[in-house]
Amino acid sequence: MTTTAVAVEHVSKKFRVYHERNQTLKSAIMRRRRSVHEDFWALDDVTFDIPEGSTFALVGDNGSGKSTLLKCMAKILYPNKGSIAANGKVAALLEVGSGFHPELSGRDNVYLNGSILGMTRPEIDRKFDEIVDFSGVEEFIDQPVKNYSSGMYVRLGFSVAINVDPEILLVDEVLAVGDAAFQDKCAEKFAQFRREGRTVVVVSHSMPQLRAMADQAAWLQHGKLMEVGEAGGVLERYLDSTRGSTRLDEQGRSHWGSAEMVVEDVEVMSSEGPTRPIRSGEDLTIRVHYRVEKPVTDPVIGVGIESTDGTYLWASNTFDHGPKLGTVRGRGYVDCHAPEVAFAPGNYVVITTLTDSTTQHVYDQVRDSARFAVESGKQRWWGGYIHTESRWQAPRHVEVGPA
Ligand SMILES: Nc1ncnc2c1ncn2[C@@H]1O[C@H](COP(=O)(O)OP(=O)(O)OP(=O)(O)O)[C@@H](O)[C@H]1O
Ligand SMILES: [Mg+2]
Repeated sequence: MTTTAVAVEHVSKKFRVYHERNQTLKSAIMRRRRSVHEDFWALDDVTFDIPEGSTFALVGDNGSGKSTLLKCMAKILYPNKGSIAANGKVAALLEVGSGFHPELSGRDNVYLNGSILGMTRPEIDRKFDEIVDFSGVEEFIDQPVKNYSSGMYVRLGFSVAINVDPEILLVDEVLAVGDAAFQDKCAEKFAQFRREGRTVVVVSHSMPQLRAMADQAAWLQHGKLMEVGEAGGVLERYLDSTRGSTRLDEQGRSHWGSAEMVVEDVEVMSSEGPTRPIRSGEDLTIRVHYRVEKPVTDPVIGVGIESTDGTYLWASNTFDHGPKLGTVRGRGYVDCHAPEVAFAPGNYVVITTLTDSTTQHVYDQVRDSARFAVESGKQRWWGGYIHTESRWQAPRHVEVGPA
């Protein structure tokens, strides 16, 4: 018989949504009689068991209640109805940098975060090197974490969480931020956790990742449980359902996301304007045109470039590399300048993603938002994806002494 690591029983969670539109005299008067808020059920009578020792995926569209459920498991939120029982020590890694203090160094944050997660000081002392080593941010450990990139935040946060020695680890959408090497490390760690009989509950939008590591899964939709069981089948049926939720625009591009902010168009230009070809080694500008229905504050715009064979080559976003965008209204555009691009001659695809300020919530993702060709630059190109200048020196003779 398998034992249960987390038992979720008839859990419902209600949020109060306040309406502030139509600030007219009439509505102000009307408000005297009508309630100004609405109750919104983010989780609605959810029941399932997470078996001990499983790697359990939680999937569902944006806003389906995944993070809310993880927060209830972590006891950051409490359900209005129902109960959650965790059978073992829980550690949670829920948001980029949650529990991190921006002004403190990485070192101090390890201690702060470790103690929040229930480690004693001597325990952290003992594990400190291992934590920092796993995170790969050694060189920056004495710098304030406000200077860290989102990837560094996540790596350090993740390293602390796994070193708390939890019996149950909750991870929300953090694997997407790290680079491929770090993702591999995490996957290895999860496999080790599984061998040790620990339980991992993971929320991710990356189906390939989940398919590779999860053995059980639950699918939430509008706060209700759609399905729970063996991961392969649940993930497949969830994926089938999402194919319908992508929208096609007039240009035939497919959009995915909650659509508070959408990509209208993406242009790729050489620094001398849209009509000049882009050449290896010269500057490049990616212009992202967006539209919002209602004002959106501090969205994050990201662009990635793939070769047409699907190899992911480069990415940049306003969270790590740009200014805060403030409140955006109506339509507008943002330029990303990339000097002296190292792309080899060939054809490329731009993936554009708009998210909220935490990068956790996707407003819009267009995987094929623009295509562009790169032509040969000053130097002749031989092969490969990147092309940077190279110089060779004349041979230098080395005397070989007697054997
Ligand atoms: N503190 C809050 N106050 C009001 N509404 C909230 C609050 N937190 C979440 N919600 C709402 O509850 C719903 C579920 O949110 P939740 O963050 O759990 O979704 P999710 O499945 O994690 O989505 P995503 O994939 O975008 O991360 C959403 O409609 C969200 O707007
Ligand atoms: Mg979430």
